[in-house]
Amino acid sequence: MDSKALWNTVIEGLAGPGYAVVPKAFPPDVVEAVRAEALSRRERFRPAGIGNQAMRVSAVRGDAIEWLEWGEGGAAMQPFWQVMEVMREALNRELYLGLRELECHFALYPPGGGYQRHYDNPHGRSARIVTVLLYLNPGWRPAHGGQLHIFGPQDESRLLCEVQPEAGTFVAFLSERFPHEVLPARRERLSLTGWWRRG
Ligand code: OGA
Ligand code: MN
Repeated sequence: MDSKALWNTVIEGLAGPGYAVVPKAFPPDVVEAVRAEALSRRERFRPAGIGNQAMRVSAVRGDAIEWLEWGEGGAAMQPFWQVMEVMREALNRELYLGLRELECHFALYPPGGGYQRHYDNPHGRSARIVTVLLYLNPGWRPAHGGQLHIFGPQDESRLLCEVQPEAGTFVAFLSERFPHEVLPARRERLSLTGWWRRG
């Protein structure tokens, strides 16, 4: 998919239901470059905390993370950042979201790890406006588990959407609006998570 088709799909999703799921969002070599960057940092991943505390509650959240600054990852990852920048400009132009910067980390869930239902920006208190996810797992099968579940904004028990974390699938949703969870996976599950922040 070219970058214009991607950001068009994301804009339609955010303006409509409030979320978008886009398989094959990036060219395979770009996805592979992002995956290679994540794997090259494998030794640096640390168990994720919850909220502002450095609490490690693996029953709630089983992933390990490694923060990534804008533009990092060498030449092979530059096409990824370029697409994200074009997307930011399009979202601001079309939806007036006022997005300024992308806060992001890689996430690695070991087998058995999941993330219980939560909001990324409860009650809109933080600067996180749009959550984005890029999955980095070639050959993922439903039997591997690890699906992302997005629930209804009004009814938290209503499952709106189930996403397989297959390499190249991109997800965007309004961070304040959607409760979501990650089911425990039977194999290692790798992703890039980002939050577009307002100012
Ligand atoms: C998160 C999150 C979902 C996923 O990192 O906050 O909800 O599918 N991730 O990895
Ligand atoms: Mn989340």
